[in-house]
Order: sequence, then C-alpha cells, then structure tokens
Amino acid sequence: MSKILLCCGASAALHKGCDLASRLTRAGHEVRAVLTPRATELISPQLFEALTGQVAASAEFGPERGGAMDHIELGAWAELVVVAPCTADLLGRLALGLGDDLLTSALLATPGEVPRLLCPAMNSNMLAQPAVRRNLDQLRQDGWRVAEPREGELACGVSGPGRMLEPEEIGALAAELLGS
Ligand SMILES: Cc1cc2nc3c(=O)[nH]c(=O)nc-3n(C[C@H](O)[C@H](O)[C@H](O)COP(=O)(O)O)c2cc1C
Repeated sequence: MSKILLCCGASAALHKGCDLASRLTRAGHEVRAVLTPRATELISPQLFEALTGQVAASAEFGPERGGAMDHIELGAWAELVVVAPCTADLLGRLALGLGDDLLTSALLATPGEVPRLLCPAMNSNMLAQPAVRRNLDQLRQDGWRVAEPREGELACGVSGPGRMLEPEEIGALAAELLGS
C-alpha cells in the first residue's frame, strides 16, 4: 500500500475530496491531506484527519505549521500525488511552478519521478478560458496525468463541462498510476 499526498483547492467539489480521502484510506493507503489556505475557509482540515487518521496540513508558517520544513518532508514522503479538487487558480500556480503556500511548495519539493494526478473542478466558463486550457496543456507536458472534467450538473446550478470525476473513478486512476 502507498503513501498518497492528497492536495485540495478551494472548490465546491471539496466534499468529493473528503470521499476520496476516505476511499483511499479504506483501500489501505496512507493518505495525508494538504489544503490551500482558501480551502480551509470552506472546510476544516480536521475532517480530513478524521477520515484518514493522519495529520492534515495547510499552514507553512506560524503557530499552526507542523515542523520546521513541512514542504520538504511532505514532498519526500509522497509516492503518489493527487490534486482533487484542483481549482483554476491552483492549476495556474502549478503551471507556473509557484510555491506560494504549503501545498504548492510541497509539490515543488516532490521528486520528479513521483506520479501526479490532477483533477480539475470548475465552472464551464472558467474551464473554457484560453489561460486555463493553456495551463492544462502545460501541466500535461510537465508530466501530470490530467483527469479532464466531465459535462454534468455543476455546483453553480448550471449543466456543462467542469464537473470533477467521481471519487470512485479518481481512485481507479490512482490505482493505475501506482501500478496496482
Ligand atoms: C463556495 C465556493 C466554491 C468555489 N468553487 C470553485 C471551483 O469549483 N473551482 C474553481 O476553480 N474555483 C472555485 N471557487 C473560487 C476559488 O475558491 C478561488 O479562485 C480561490 O482563490 C482558489 O484558491 P486556491 O486555488 O488557493 O484553493 C469557489 C469559491 C467559492 C467561494
């Protein structure tokens, strides 16, 4: 069983991130969740801790951080990275190679050979933006496996492309990337 770094952005699909955390844990994996600071405004990391039995992190600085260099420790620990849900903002930061919070710093510190799965979730207009398409292409070129969102009902109340894959499907892709 593997060590999976589950990275979550501030999306309406965060509830699926919780489901995924639970499924991967029940499948026997060690799952550590890292949330963007904005994601913690929508959901508490404590819920991920309850679902995974592992510490969930968000802060890189200040009294809420875990250790002195959490990003290095997390990056070295991961055997698979899953970003689900990935916001338009987060994929832009990843495409640029930024490290402006614990999540993006940990991904920069993850060795290149570690498989990476990106599961975007966003409104259809956001997904169709040339900048977002460009960032997705860039991330594919950089070695990310992108689980292209589907058409379906979106949290904003409309139907269209942008719906993140279901946790069960993401779990199957994760197993494929781990070769299990
Ligand atoms: C309730 C709520 C739901 C949101 N859902 C999404 C989403 O599914 N996809 C997205 O790209 N942005 C979404 N946003 C906007 C992002 O939260 C916003 O761009 C934020 O800056 C992203 O920060 P992060 O990428 O650091 O997590 C949502 C915002 C709110 C308030």
